[in-house]
Formats: sequence, C-alpha cells, structure tokens
Amino acid sequence: MKTISILNHNDLTEAFALEQLCHTLPWSKTTFFSNQGDRYLNLKLTIDNKIIGFCICQLVADEANLFNIAIHPEFRQKGLAKELLNKLIEELMSLNSNKPIASLWLEVRKSNDAAIRLYHSLGFNQITIRRNYYPTVEGKQEDAIIMAYTLTL
Ligand SMILES: CC(C)(COP(=O)(O)OP(=O)(O)OC[C@H]1O[C@@H](n2cnc3c(N)ncnc32)[C@H](O)[C@@H]1OP(=O)(O)O)[C@@H](O)C(=O)NCCC(=O)NCCS
Repeated sequence: MKTISILNHNDLTEAFALEQLCHTLPWSKTTFFSNQGDRYLNLKLTIDNKIIGFCICQLVADEANLFNIAIHPEFRQKGLAKELLNKLIEELMSLNSNKPIASLWLEVRKSNDAAIRLYHSLGFNQITIRRNYYPTVEGKQEDAIIMAYTLTL
C-alpha cells in the first residue's frame, strides 16, 4: 500500500539511508537531522511501510523552500516524485495561517535533467541562474538553476 504522510523523527535513520543511496553528494547526517522541526513541512512516501521517497521543505514567512527530494532508484520514473510534490503543494496551500505561503522555491544543479523535467512538469518557472554555486565530485563548480512555483491563486 502507498501512503504520503509527515516525515517524523522516528523516520530519520531510514530516510537518511535513502538520502545516501540517492544523491552523488549526499547531505551529512548532521545536516539531514537538523533540517527537521517546527519550521519544516517534510513528507515521506511509503510503499508497504518502507520509505521510498521524501521531501524536505522549509517555511520562512510567506515562502517555502524545497531543500531536498529523493526517490529510491528502483522506483523512479513512475510518477512518485510528482505525486509527492503535488501533495506538498496541496499541504502548503491548505496551511491554516494568517499569512498564506505565496511561493515554493528551489535550486537545482544545471546537469540534473531528471529533476528539472520533474519541476517543469509541475509548473515551476525558472527565475535565475546562480553561477558556480554547487561543488561537483570532480572538485569543480556547477551552476544552480533557481525555480519557483506560485501557490496563491
Ligand atoms: C529527481 C527525482 C526525484 C525524480 O523522481 P521520479 O519519481 O523518477 O520522477 P517522476 O516519475 O515523478 O517524474 C516526473 C516527471 O519528470 C520526468 N523525469 C523524471 N526522471 C526523468 C529522467 N531520468 N529522464 C527524463 N525525464 C524524467 C518524468 O518523465 C515526468 O515527466 P511527465 O510528468 O511530463 O511525464 C529522482 O530522479 C531522484 O531521486 N533523483 C536523485 C535525487 C535528486 O536529484 N533530487 C533532486 C535534487 S534535490
């Protein structure tokens, strides 16, 4: 059975293992465990109680920032990341606050075609490019593409 729900503290060890499996340059354990808490809306996608994907989203004033999303390599290109982000967008739009979240921001490596296609397919727009923003495995730098999705109607 497939479910999407809040990623909570008890999930972090399993989710961090997925982080290491999914990214060429994964976050450290300290970074992963510290991007949780009151200011975050983090979701997990499970299939038969196993975490297959997660997203990490920080809320600051009327903006949300998607810091991380990953889907297990064996479950990719089945629409799961799209489902997870659609759920995140739905949750952000229904947050009960006196200042609604206006936009969801993210940055992505210029070479990450899969992620860029995912974000375009959801309706994110490219806002700008930050030159030489990310380190690469070869010890060089790579541009970041900054994208945003408008949440207010
Ligand atoms: C990026 C990632 C999350 C996509 O997950 P996914 O579940 O495979 O994506 P989906 O199946 O939901 O695909 C959504 C859209 O992106 C496209 N897409 C996804 N992966 C693709 C690929 N490798 N090549 C071409 N298109 C791709 C799909 O065709 C789909 O487009 P459509 O809706 O127009 O048909 C996954 O590849 C991943 O975990 N990558 C490693 C971590 C990462 O790079 N995260 C993003 C930066 S933090």
